[in-house]
Amino acid sequence: MQKYPLTRKRRLRYTQSIRDLAAENTLNSSDLIWPVFVLEGENRRESIKSMPGVYRLSQDLLIEKLAKLYSMGLKAVALFPVVTAEKKSEQAEEAYNSDGLVQRSIRKIKSELPEILVISDIALDPFTIHGQDGLIDESGYVLNDETVEVLCKQAVSHARAGVDIVAPSDMMDGRILKVREALESNGYINTSILAYSAKYASCFYGPFRDAVGSSGNLGKSTKENYQMNPANGKEALDEIAMDIDEGADMVMVKPGLPYLDIIKSASETFNTPVFAYQVSGEYAMLQSAIDNGFLDEKKAILESLLCFKRAGCDAILTYYADRVLEYLNE
Ligand code: PBG
Repeated sequence: MQKYPLTRKRRLRYTQSIRDLAAENTLNSSDLIWPVFVLEGENRRESIKSMPGVYRLSQDLLIEKLAKLYSMGLKAVALFPVVTAEKKSEQAEEAYNSDGLVQRSIRKIKSELPEILVISDIALDPFTIHGQDGLIDESGYVLNDETVEVLCKQAVSHARAGVDIVAPSDMMDGRILKVREALESNGYINTSILAYSAKYASCFYGPFRDAVGSSGNLGKSTKENYQMNPANGKEALDEIAMDIDEGADMVMVKPGLPYLDIIKSASETFNTPVFAYQVSGEYAMLQSAIDNGFLDEKKAILESLLCFKRAGCDAILTYYADRVLEYLNE
Protein backbone atom coordinates (compact mmCIF):
# COMPACT_ATOMS: atom_id res chain seq x y z
CA MET A 1 0.00 0.00 0.00
CA GLN A 2 1.43 3.38 -1.01
CA LYS A 3 1.92 5.88 1.72
CA TYR A 4 0.59 9.37 2.30
CA PRO A 5 0.83 11.74 0.47
CA LEU A 6 1.27 9.57 -2.66
CA THR A 7 -2.02 8.04 -1.62
CA ARG A 8 -4.71 10.28 -0.24
CA LYS A 9 -7.85 8.19 0.17
CA ARG A 10 -9.88 11.39 0.30
CA ARG A 11 -9.17 12.15 -3.40
CA LEU A 12 -11.87 9.68 -4.44
CA ARG A 13 -14.31 11.29 -2.01
CA TYR A 14 -13.77 14.83 -3.29
CA THR A 15 -16.98 15.29 -5.34
CA GLN A 16 -20.23 13.39 -5.77
CA SER A 17 -19.21 12.43 -9.31
CA ILE A 18 -15.91 10.89 -8.27
CA ARG A 19 -17.63 9.12 -5.37
CA ASP A 20 -20.17 7.67 -7.81
CA LEU A 21 -17.46 6.65 -10.26
CA ALA A 22 -15.45 4.88 -7.58
CA ALA A 23 -18.42 3.23 -5.86
CA GLU A 24 -18.02 -0.51 -5.38
CA ASN A 25 -21.76 -1.12 -5.12
CA THR A 26 -25.01 0.47 -6.23
CA LEU A 27 -28.66 -0.14 -5.48
CA ASN A 28 -30.87 -0.64 -8.57
CA SER A 29 -34.49 -1.42 -9.25
CA SER A 30 -33.46 -4.94 -10.29
CA ASP A 31 -32.23 -5.58 -6.74
CA LEU A 32 -35.68 -5.24 -5.25
CA ILE A 33 -38.41 -7.74 -4.47
CA TRP A 34 -41.60 -6.35 -2.99
CA PRO A 35 -43.28 -8.56 -0.35
CA VAL A 36 -47.01 -7.90 -0.17
CA PHE A 37 -49.91 -9.03 2.04
CA VAL A 38 -52.93 -10.07 -0.01
CA LEU A 39 -56.53 -9.92 1.22
CA GLU A 40 -59.74 -11.51 -0.02
CA GLY A 41 -62.41 -9.20 -1.42
CA GLU A 42 -62.39 -6.00 -3.41
CA ASN A 43 -61.27 -2.47 -2.85
CA ARG A 44 -59.76 -3.31 0.53
CA ARG A 45 -56.70 -1.62 1.97
CA GLU A 46 -55.89 -2.23 5.64
CA SER A 47 -53.11 -0.67 7.65
CA ILE A 48 -50.94 -2.78 9.95
CA LYS A 49 -50.31 -1.35 13.39
CA SER A 50 -46.77 -2.65 13.82
CA MET A 51 -45.80 -1.77 10.23
CA PRO A 52 -46.92 1.83 9.68
CA GLY A 53 -46.89 2.63 5.95
CA VAL A 54 -47.42 -1.00 4.86
CA TYR A 55 -50.89 -2.19 3.81
CA ARG A 56 -52.77 -5.39 3.23
CA LEU A 57 -54.36 -5.13 -0.21
CA SER A 58 -57.14 -6.91 -2.04
CA GLN A 59 -56.25 -8.28 -5.48
CA ASP A 60 -57.73 -5.39 -7.48
CA LEU A 61 -55.77 -2.76 -5.55
CA LEU A 62 -52.67 -4.94 -5.70
CA ILE A 63 -52.86 -5.10 -9.50
CA GLU A 64 -53.25 -1.31 -9.70
CA LYS A 65 -50.23 -0.77 -7.52
CA LEU A 66 -48.14 -3.42 -9.29
CA ALA A 67 -48.86 -1.83 -12.67
CA LYS A 68 -47.48 1.45 -11.36
CA LEU A 69 -44.44 -0.18 -9.75
CA TYR A 70 -43.75 -2.20 -12.89
CA SER A 71 -43.58 1.03 -14.89
CA MET A 72 -41.04 2.24 -12.33
CA GLY A 73 -38.84 -0.82 -12.75
CA LEU A 74 -40.13 -3.44 -10.30
CA LYS A 75 -39.14 -6.95 -11.37
CA ALA A 76 -40.61 -9.20 -8.70
CA VAL A 77 -43.29 -9.48 -6.06
CA ALA A 78 -43.56 -11.99 -3.20
CA LEU A 79 -47.09 -12.89 -2.10
CA PHE A 80 -48.18 -13.47 1.49
CA PRO A 81 -51.86 -14.32 1.95
CA VAL A 82 -54.05 -13.22 4.83
CA VAL A 83 -56.09 -16.38 5.28
CA THR A 84 -59.44 -16.18 7.04
CA ALA A 85 -59.96 -18.34 10.14
CA GLU A 86 -62.48 -20.70 8.56
CA LYS A 87 -59.96 -21.71 5.89
CA LYS A 88 -57.36 -22.81 8.46
CA SER A 89 -57.19 -26.46 9.48
CA GLU A 90 -55.02 -29.13 11.15
CA GLN A 91 -53.87 -30.52 7.81
CA ALA A 92 -53.59 -27.16 6.00
CA GLU A 93 -55.54 -28.35 2.97
CA GLU A 94 -56.15 -24.77 1.86
CA ALA A 95 -52.44 -24.50 1.05
CA TYR A 96 -52.96 -26.48 -2.16
CA ASN A 97 -56.50 -25.41 -3.05
CA SER A 98 -56.31 -24.56 -6.77
CA ASP A 99 -58.81 -21.80 -6.11
CA GLY A 100 -57.09 -20.46 -2.97
CA LEU A 101 -56.18 -16.82 -2.49
CA VAL A 102 -52.54 -17.28 -3.49
CA GLN A 103 -53.35 -19.40 -6.55
CA ARG A 104 -55.96 -16.85 -7.73
CA SER A 105 -53.56 -13.97 -7.12
CA ILE A 106 -50.81 -15.68 -9.11
CA ARG A 107 -53.18 -16.25 -12.06
CA LYS A 108 -54.42 -12.66 -11.94
CA ILE A 109 -50.95 -11.09 -11.83
CA LYS A 110 -49.58 -13.37 -14.54
CA SER A 111 -52.52 -12.58 -16.83
CA GLU A 112 -52.50 -8.80 -16.28
CA LEU A 113 -48.79 -8.15 -15.77
CA PRO A 114 -47.01 -11.18 -17.21
CA GLU A 115 -43.56 -9.58 -17.05
CA ILE A 116 -43.59 -9.30 -13.26
CA LEU A 117 -41.97 -12.28 -11.58
CA VAL A 118 -44.28 -13.77 -8.98
CA ILE A 119 -42.71 -15.46 -5.96
CA SER A 120 -44.85 -17.55 -3.63
CA ASP A 121 -44.10 -18.67 -0.10
CA ILE A 122 -44.08 -22.43 0.39
CA ALA A 123 -44.95 -23.03 4.04
CA LEU A 124 -48.07 -23.97 5.93
CA ASP A 125 -48.27 -21.30 8.64
CA PRO A 126 -51.03 -19.21 6.99
CA PHE A 127 -53.16 -22.36 6.71
CA THR A 128 -52.69 -24.21 10.03
CA ILE A 129 -54.93 -23.44 12.99
CA HIS A 130 -51.88 -23.54 15.30
CA GLY A 131 -49.78 -21.16 13.17
CA GLN A 132 -46.82 -23.53 12.86
CA ASP A 133 -45.19 -23.92 9.43
CA GLY A 134 -45.95 -27.63 9.32
CA LEU A 135 -48.21 -30.44 10.48
CA ILE A 136 -47.88 -31.30 14.16
CA ASP A 137 -48.18 -34.46 16.25
CA GLU A 138 -50.12 -34.80 19.55
CA SER A 139 -47.28 -33.19 21.48
CA GLY A 140 -47.20 -30.20 19.14
CA TYR A 141 -43.93 -31.23 17.49
CA VAL A 142 -43.71 -30.15 13.85
CA LEU A 143 -43.43 -33.25 11.69
CA ASN A 144 -40.78 -33.03 9.00
CA ASP A 145 -41.49 -35.58 6.28
CA GLU A 146 -45.28 -35.38 6.53
CA THR A 147 -45.04 -31.61 6.15
CA VAL A 148 -42.78 -31.90 3.12
CA GLU A 149 -45.44 -33.91 1.30
CA VAL A 150 -47.94 -31.09 1.74
CA LEU A 151 -45.34 -28.53 0.67
CA CYS A 152 -44.90 -30.44 -2.60
CA LYS A 153 -48.64 -30.26 -3.30
CA GLN A 154 -48.60 -26.56 -2.46
CA ALA A 155 -45.63 -25.88 -4.77
CA VAL A 156 -47.20 -27.81 -7.68
CA SER A 157 -50.49 -25.95 -7.24
CA HIS A 158 -48.64 -22.62 -7.40
CA ALA A 159 -46.69 -23.76 -10.45
CA ARG A 160 -49.95 -24.79 -12.11
CA ALA A 161 -51.29 -21.28 -11.44
CA GLY A 162 -48.24 -19.89 -13.23
CA VAL A 163 -45.88 -18.81 -10.47
CA ASP A 164 -42.32 -18.07 -11.58
CA ILE A 165 -40.51 -18.82 -8.34
CA VAL A 166 -41.53 -20.93 -5.35
CA ALA A 167 -39.87 -20.05 -2.06
CA PRO A 168 -39.90 -22.80 0.59
CA SER A 169 -39.63 -20.85 3.83
CA ASP A 170 -40.32 -23.42 6.52
CA MET A 171 -36.84 -24.88 7.24
CA MET A 172 -37.95 -28.52 7.07
CA ASP A 173 -35.08 -30.88 6.19
CA GLY A 174 -34.96 -32.22 2.66
CA ARG A 175 -37.79 -30.11 1.29
CA ILE A 176 -35.88 -28.58 -1.59
CA LEU A 177 -35.14 -31.96 -3.17
CA LYS A 178 -38.73 -33.11 -2.77
CA VAL A 179 -40.17 -29.87 -4.16
CA ARG A 180 -37.73 -29.99 -7.06
CA GLU A 181 -38.71 -33.57 -7.86
CA ALA A 182 -42.40 -32.69 -7.65
CA LEU A 183 -41.96 -29.76 -10.04
CA GLU A 184 -39.90 -31.82 -12.49
CA SER A 185 -42.26 -34.76 -12.50
CA ASN A 186 -45.21 -32.45 -13.18
CA GLY A 187 -43.44 -30.77 -16.08
CA TYR A 188 -42.62 -27.46 -14.37
CA ILE A 189 -38.98 -27.58 -15.32
CA ASN A 190 -38.56 -23.80 -15.49
CA THR A 191 -40.15 -22.96 -12.17
CA SER A 192 -37.30 -21.69 -9.99
CA ILE A 193 -36.77 -22.45 -6.33
CA LEU A 194 -35.67 -19.67 -4.01
CA ALA A 195 -34.76 -21.53 -0.83
CA TYR A 196 -35.03 -19.78 2.49
CA SER A 197 -31.91 -21.72 3.41
CA ALA A 198 -30.69 -19.82 6.43
CA LYS A 199 -33.83 -18.71 8.16
CA TYR A 200 -33.35 -17.93 11.82
CA ALA A 201 -35.84 -18.30 14.68
CA SER A 202 -36.03 -14.54 15.01
CA CYS A 203 -38.16 -12.18 17.05
CA PHE A 204 -37.93 -9.81 14.10
CA TYR A 205 -40.81 -11.68 12.41
CA GLY A 206 -43.29 -10.42 15.02
CA PRO A 207 -44.89 -7.66 12.92
CA PHE A 208 -45.25 -10.05 9.95
CA ARG A 209 -47.22 -12.45 12.13
CA ASP A 210 -49.50 -9.54 13.07
CA ALA A 211 -49.84 -8.62 9.40
CA VAL A 212 -50.95 -12.09 8.29
CA GLY A 213 -52.85 -12.71 11.52
CA SER A 214 -50.92 -15.81 12.61
CA SER A 215 -49.51 -14.50 15.91
CA GLY A 216 -52.73 -15.31 17.78
CA ASN A 217 -52.74 -18.84 16.39
CA LEU A 218 -49.09 -19.38 17.33
CA GLY A 219 -49.70 -18.14 20.88
CA LYS A 220 -46.74 -18.85 23.13
CA SER A 221 -45.22 -21.60 21.01
CA THR A 222 -42.08 -20.91 19.00
CA LYS A 223 -40.43 -22.15 15.80
CA GLU A 224 -37.09 -22.84 17.47
CA ASN A 225 -37.05 -26.55 16.74
CA TYR A 226 -36.94 -25.95 12.98
CA GLN A 227 -35.72 -22.40 12.32
CA MET A 228 -32.04 -21.73 13.05
CA ASN A 229 -30.46 -20.59 16.29
CA PRO A 230 -29.29 -16.95 15.97
CA ALA A 231 -26.09 -18.02 17.73
CA ASN A 232 -24.95 -20.05 14.71
CA GLY A 233 -23.08 -18.97 11.60
CA LYS A 234 -21.24 -22.03 10.25
CA GLU A 235 -24.44 -24.05 10.39
CA ALA A 236 -25.97 -21.61 7.88
CA LEU A 237 -23.33 -22.59 5.33
CA ASP A 238 -24.28 -26.27 5.77
CA GLU A 239 -27.95 -25.43 5.28
CA ILE A 240 -27.17 -23.46 2.13
CA ALA A 241 -24.86 -26.13 0.72
CA MET A 242 -27.53 -28.80 1.23
CA ASP A 243 -30.22 -26.70 -0.44
CA ILE A 244 -27.99 -26.02 -3.45
CA ASP A 245 -27.26 -29.75 -3.75
CA GLU A 246 -30.98 -30.45 -3.56
CA GLY A 247 -31.74 -28.14 -6.47
CA ALA A 248 -32.18 -24.59 -5.16
CA ASP A 249 -31.67 -21.96 -7.87
CA MET A 250 -31.26 -19.14 -5.37
CA VAL A 251 -30.76 -19.13 -1.62
CA MET A 252 -31.87 -16.70 1.03
CA VAL A 253 -30.68 -15.42 4.37
CA LYS A 254 -33.29 -14.08 6.75
CA PRO A 255 -33.49 -11.71 8.65
CA GLY A 256 -31.22 -9.25 6.86
CA LEU A 257 -29.29 -6.47 8.57
CA PRO A 258 -28.49 -8.30 11.84
CA TYR A 259 -27.27 -11.23 9.71
CA LEU A 260 -25.02 -9.48 7.17
CA ASP A 261 -22.14 -11.70 8.28
CA ILE A 262 -24.08 -14.73 7.05
CA ILE A 263 -24.88 -13.04 3.72
CA LYS A 264 -21.23 -12.14 3.32
CA SER A 265 -19.90 -15.63 3.92
CA ALA A 266 -22.65 -17.19 1.78
CA SER A 267 -21.85 -14.93 -1.15
CA GLU A 268 -18.13 -15.66 -0.81
CA THR A 269 -18.60 -19.41 -0.44
CA PHE A 270 -21.18 -20.23 -3.12
CA ASN A 271 -21.72 -19.34 -6.77
CA THR A 272 -25.51 -19.43 -6.42
CA PRO A 273 -27.35 -16.08 -6.12
CA VAL A 274 -27.84 -15.04 -2.51
CA PHE A 275 -30.92 -13.05 -1.58
CA ALA A 276 -31.85 -11.55 1.75
CA TYR A 277 -35.05 -10.53 3.46
CA GLN A 278 -35.20 -7.22 5.27
CA VAL A 279 -37.96 -8.52 7.51
CA SER A 280 -40.94 -6.92 9.17
CA GLY A 281 -39.15 -6.21 12.45
CA GLU A 282 -36.34 -4.44 10.62
CA TYR A 283 -38.97 -2.38 8.83
CA ALA A 284 -40.69 -1.62 12.14
CA MET A 285 -37.41 -0.50 13.76
CA LEU A 286 -36.42 1.79 10.91
CA GLN A 287 -39.90 3.16 10.41
CA SER A 288 -40.39 3.93 14.11
CA ALA A 289 -37.21 5.97 14.13
CA ILE A 290 -38.23 7.67 10.87
CA ASP A 291 -41.73 8.47 12.16
CA ASN A 292 -40.22 9.95 15.32
CA GLY A 293 -37.98 12.19 13.25
CA PHE A 294 -34.86 10.45 14.59
CA LEU A 295 -33.68 9.24 11.17
CA ASP A 296 -33.97 10.76 7.70
CA GLU A 297 -36.41 8.52 5.79
CA LYS A 298 -34.81 8.39 2.38
CA LYS A 299 -31.22 8.25 3.61
CA ALA A 300 -31.90 5.56 6.21
CA ILE A 301 -33.77 3.34 3.77
CA LEU A 302 -31.24 3.66 0.96
CA GLU A 303 -28.24 3.16 3.25
CA SER A 304 -29.73 0.08 4.88
CA LEU A 305 -30.36 -1.51 1.48
CA LEU A 306 -27.00 -0.54 -0.02
CA CYS A 307 -25.34 -2.37 2.88
CA PHE A 308 -27.03 -5.59 1.75
CA LYS A 309 -25.39 -5.11 -1.65
CA ARG A 310 -22.00 -4.52 -0.05
CA ALA A 311 -22.38 -7.75 1.90
CA GLY A 312 -22.86 -9.57 -1.42
CA CYS A 313 -26.61 -9.79 -1.87
CA ASP A 314 -28.02 -10.26 -5.37
CA ALA A 315 -31.55 -9.19 -4.46
CA ILE A 316 -33.40 -8.00 -1.38
CA LEU A 317 -36.96 -8.55 -0.25
CA THR A 318 -37.98 -5.28 1.33
CA TYR A 319 -41.22 -3.63 2.35
CA TYR A 320 -39.53 -0.42 1.20
CA ALA A 321 -39.35 -1.58 -2.43
CA ASP A 322 -42.16 0.76 -3.50
CA ARG A 323 -40.60 3.79 -1.81
CA VAL A 324 -37.15 2.96 -3.15
CA LEU A 325 -38.50 2.79 -6.70
CA GLU A 326 -39.80 6.31 -6.22
CA TYR A 327 -36.40 7.47 -4.99
CA LEU A 328 -34.62 5.77 -7.90
CA ASN A 329 -37.02 7.39 -10.36
CA GLU A 330 -36.60 10.92 -8.95
C1 PBG B 1 -43.55 -17.94 7.32
C2 PBG B 1 -42.85 -16.66 7.00
C3 PBG B 1 -42.47 -15.73 7.98
C4 PBG B 1 -41.93 -14.64 7.28
C5 PBG B 1 -41.98 -14.94 5.91
N1 PBG B 1 -42.54 -16.23 5.77
C6 PBG B 1 -42.65 -15.69 9.44
C7 PBG B 1 -42.30 -16.83 10.27
O1 PBG B 1 -41.43 -17.64 9.97
O2 PBG B 1 -42.95 -16.92 11.31
C8 PBG B 1 -41.42 -13.41 7.95
C9 PBG B 1 -41.23 -12.22 7.12
C10 PBG B 1 -41.11 -10.95 7.87
O3 PBG B 1 -40.96 -10.92 9.11
O4 PBG B 1 -41.15 -9.91 7.21
N2 PBG B 1 -43.26 -19.04 6.59
